[in-house]
Amino acid sequence: MSHMIVVGAQWGDEGKGKIVDLLTSEVDMVVRFQGGNNAGHTVIANGKKYVLHVVPSGILHPGKMCVIGNGVVLDPEGFLEEIDALAALGLDVSPSRLKISYRTHFIMPYHRALDGAREGHAKDKIGTTGRGIGPCYEDKKARVGVRAGDLTDPEVLKSKITHALEEKNVLFTQLYGLPVMDAEAVFQKLMALAPRILPYLADVSSVILDAHAAGKRIMFEGAQGVMLDIDHGTYPFVTSSNVACDNAALGSGISSGIIGERIAIVKAYTTRVGAGPFPTELFDKTGEELRSRGGEFGATTGRPRRCGWLDIAVLREMARLCGPTSIALTKVDVLSGMKEVKICVAYEYEGRVVQYPPQTPRGLDQVKPVYETMPGWSEDLTGCDRWESLPENCRRYIDRIQELLGVKIDYISVGPDRKQTFRR
Ligand code: GDP
Ligand code: IMO
Ligand code: MG
Repeated sequence: MSHMIVVGAQWGDEGKGKIVDLLTSEVDMVVRFQGGNNAGHTVIANGKKYVLHVVPSGILHPGKMCVIGNGVVLDPEGFLEEIDALAALGLDVSPSRLKISYRTHFIMPYHRALDGAREGHAKDKIGTTGRGIGPCYEDKKARVGVRAGDLTDPEVLKSKITHALEEKNVLFTQLYGLPVMDAEAVFQKLMALAPRILPYLADVSSVILDAHAAGKRIMFEGAQGVMLDIDHGTYPFVTSSNVACDNAALGSGISSGIIGERIAIVKAYTTRVGAGPFPTELFDKTGEELRSRGGEFGATTGRPRRCGWLDIAVLREMARLCGPTSIALTKVDVLSGMKEVKICVAYEYEGRVVQYPPQTPRGLDQVKPVYETMPGWSEDLTGCDRWESLPENCRRYIDRIQELLGVKIDYISVGPDRKQTFRR
């Protein structure tokens, strides 16, 4: 059985939650493999809106298994709040269908405090979500992180927290003017959550590979977008994990050899939350229109998203990193009513035309988009349910994107509801 990955192709918020939810009907298990509750994945189904942060978006489908891999960073308090909210909406979030890897790193209160303090002090702010993501991944790499499995061994847990805080407290008090954080209090608070979290812990590699062996189909749900990848994104204005497809294997403890399909989610225009370069950003009325029509406000922080035209250079970079087998194009309906639509097909950079984002530190700040302008369409697309029902100019726009990228646009999304999607 060939499994699939769904990954964000731009700077996040492409509509991954919606597409994952839709495709969950074709799989038996959904796995998150990186990121944490910096993500906000919106699903609208049966007239209700759900926003998932760390729980896989497959949770809305009764009976489907949902798994949080080792590559995720999990805020234990945030996780419990999230599952409680889902349970209140009538969803089954019991450990029989939701698993957390013993190896998943915990976002600790000192990670959140550091994230906030750093952003508060920084001259060039990244505009993080403030969830403690970066500091948690730092501790992981520094080999001082707290992992979910540490809950099974309070002695180890306590010594790790004590050790981590020795260093963090120097930063809090000497650099950031914050009070010391008490290791015992942090330990006790986490231990109080342990009875609720322990039943969810599992050997996630085995859970996934047993499902694979039993002929079940698995989907890997990416968070963020490839331009926020720690290695290949717009560093330093990125998140702290690898977003690109191949991290699905390492972040869940399996071999990439069993994953066949790679679906890149592309928004029909571009958005970004937080700071960093964004060559096709619009500062005019068109940008405002995209924001208001597309409801472009962060699902996690509520911040207005920066908006601009579709950028093919960014998508080329995504395509060479991820090798997508198909694309799901979302929010095409938002472009209705634009007199003309533009596609950035390349950049002008240092007197040349380049096809990919330059790799020099300020290259992407210096590029000038080369645009192709196409006629727009006025028709409302939200009721369209097949290729032929789209207006001709809209089909041309989609065909041009497909041609520029050389990847099949297989899914087209024309509204936020689960039902407003069709295959070409
Ligand atoms: P994610 O982080 O990639 O899951 O995306 P978000 O949920 O943060 O943001 C996508 C937003 O667009 C959500 O509010 C979705 O409900 C909405 N959305 C998804 N697909 C479509 C679409 O095709 N058309 C419209 N108008 N909205 C969509
Ligand atoms: P989903 O999964 C959009 C951005 C933040 C900031 C940068 C670093 O919903 O697409 P972090 O808190 O991760 O250290 O912030 O990354 N960012 C996102 N932007 N969608 C997301 O997730 C994001 N997760 C992080 O705005 O610029
Ligand atoms: Mg989002």
